[in-house]
Amino acid sequence: SMAEKQERIKKAKKFFGTDLLIPGHHYQREEVIQFADVTGDSLQLAQLCGQESAPFIVFCGVHFMAETADMLTTANQRVMLPDLQAGCSMADMATMAQTNRAWDALTAQFSDTILPLTYVNSSADIKAFCGRHGGACVTSSNAAKMIEWAFSQKERLLFLPDQHLGRNTAAALGIPLAQMAVWNPLTHELEMAEDVSWQEIKVILWKGHCSVHEKFTVEQIATIREKEPETKIIVHPECTYEVVQAADDAGSTHYIIEQLKRAAPGTSWAVGTEMNLVNRLAMIHQDKHVYSLNKTMCACLTMNRIDLEHLAWTLDLLQEGVYQYEIKVEEKVAVDARLALERMLAHV
Ligand code: 13P
Ligand code: SF4
Repeated sequence: SMAEKQERIKKAKKFFGTDLLIPGHHYQREEVIQFADVTGDSLQLAQLCGQESAPFIVFCGVHFMAETADMLTTANQRVMLPDLQAGCSMADMATMAQTNRAWDALTAQFSDTILPLTYVNSSADIKAFCGRHGGACVTSSNAAKMIEWAFSQKERLLFLPDQHLGRNTAAALGIPLAQMAVWNPLTHELEMAEDVSWQEIKVILWKGHCSVHEKFTVEQIATIREKEPETKIIVHPECTYEVVQAADDAGSTHYIIEQLKRAAPGTSWAVGTEMNLVNRLAMIHQDKHVYSLNKTMCACLTMNRIDLEHLAWTLDLLQEGVYQYEIKVEEKVAVDARLALERMLAHV
């Protein structure tokens, strides 16, 4: 039963005390978040793991976040992910083989004028690739800062794996859409406007996306504008450029949470991000009207794989000394990936 699982979790938390840390990403289920010692967006959780000394970290989030936690903690701290299938479909859209092939083609064209940046929603391998080539990681909270930093290093950048975060952020910095090209990892081709020469290209966007945030549309925004013109629309920058342009505001998970905290009672908000966070915001702000921009709700299936059952099971095993789904990045990958993560953390 649910109560029984909750008891098992409480018992384990008591047993380990400060030796156990449970970080929870904002997109986690309520049943899991209630047991998180700390909640945050991906940047906050990465920063936190770098400062923590707990020997056991049971990471309630997705695989790339647990990898990041492992790389930013010491060798004797163990990071567990309660379900190994909690991946990220966006991170899976950039493989190392595809990236090597892209890099060969792009450096043949642009020689050494490109710096690679990767959204933290990527495998440790991709982070290591960026680290090796002088590049860095970014999150949705610091993407603008990191793109500005990249331009202080090189003339142009390759942004992996989310084309939308890359396009939205570069556009907000004043880079014209025409100066952005898209690298298609399936056809191995650079897609760009016909009347633009390659010398003018400033940003090369990897053709990846988040299948959760791509479900928000300009039609949904138009419907709300028509029926409830007083409603403010706020979305995550993983939404498409058109959606971000049509919305009133856009920002990371953390930014959305802060904006809703500041909002006046009685105001109405349509939010374009993951379902669990939207539901939680609606619950917290009962003096405001908060709802999903998509009436049918957008859930991240992999985030939702972490549930009460998996958390209780992981903690049971941990008490028996079994490190179920320990996430360990190979040191030869971690060394370079840390360079990319540290360059990011130095700029926030
Ligand atoms: P942030 O936590 O950086 O806002 O990212 C959202 C996300 O998609 C995490 O997977
Ligand atoms: Fe990945 Fe999108 Fe899920 Fe975030 S919400 S973990 S980017 S699939």
